[in-house]
Amino acid sequence: MPNEPEESNFKSKIRANAYPCVERNDIVWTYMGPRQTPPPLPDIEPNMLPAGEYQIQKVLRECNWFQGLEGDIDTSHLGFLHLGAVKPEQTTPGTFDYYNVADRAPKYEVVDTEFGTSYGAYRPAEADSYYWRIAHFLFPFFTMIPTGILGTQILVRAWVPVDDSHIMFWSIAAPRSRAGNGAAGGASGLSAGGRPVASAGARPGGFEFLPDSSDWLGKFRLAQNKDNDYLIDREAQRTTSFTGIAGIHQQDQAVTESMGPIYDRSQEHLGTSDAMVIRTRRRVLAASRALRDAGTVPPGVDDPTVYRYRSGGVVLPRDADWLEATKGLRRAFAEPPAEKVTTR
Ligand SMILES: [Fe+2]
Repeated sequence: MPNEPEESNFKSKIRANAYPCVERNDIVWTYMGPRQTPPPLPDIEPNMLPAGEYQIQKVLRECNWFQGLEGDIDTSHLGFLHLGAVKPEQTTPGTFDYYNVADRAPKYEVVDTEFGTSYGAYRPAEADSYYWRIAHFLFPFFTMIPTGILGTQILVRAWVPVDDSHIMFWSIAAPRSRAGNGAAGGASGLSAGGRPVASAGARPGGFEFLPDSSDWLGKFRLAQNKDNDYLIDREAQRTTSFTGIAGIHQQDQAVTESMGPIYDRSQEHLGTSDAMVIRTRRRVLAASRALRDAGTVPPGVDDPTVYRYRSGGVVLPRDADWLEATKGLRRAFAEPPAEKVTTR
């Protein structure tokens, strides 16, 4: 404070807030809570891989963080928003994609877990089997989605609130673990329609970003955004694409942002396919109230090992118990299964 008189002790009274930070695998983690010693970092597998084996993406989304997160645990939108124009005969029988578009209304099993909530959404695969999409919500704002093959895919997504109406979306994934999704029938095996996703700029991930600006929200903004209707292509929408919007991530952005910054949930009519959304809201509300009223520490804060999980798709015999049958496949830091767990 060079403009204060020399005898002023103002400078020793005034402090800037600072938060402890830890860096791990190119990500700076900070702790903003009241403890003197921060809790340990969560054991999130994709953030603990050797250098070169992981890829990080960030995208700004203009809506409330929970709205974005709920899109991630709403599994059945895949068959509409992303694959709505795809007919079963355009896919290869016996693949995840085929099962996804042959039956677009899966049934749900939802459970509370040590880290948050999990679901298994199932629909017919072959005559004696079901295709299960198994995925998780992990406190406080993480998701693991069921796009790839359970037991092989390594990824986590974080919905970090910037303020009440902006999210910094993070994806940390091992690209190698997701390779072959197309062959095995993951959602990425199909074009989402419309013009091809713009080639990568300076940042990884195949996204085209607007130039950075110096304001608080001026980074990681997609070139396809609500101000230009996500560059919707009406002709493509008529012929080859359900939305006319290029890019799976951009389609998700369009749907959750266009709900408005914070959706009025008293206007909702939740259906059976919202089972995971409902369970997760209840779990987060219960943990928030327990913290507020009784000082109960939320799941995961003091036990980093609860994050050691994986998500993905798997085909199981119809009479199998999905949790029992996938115990090993849902475990992180495990060797991928020797025999290919795929769709046949
Ligand atoms: Fe989506």
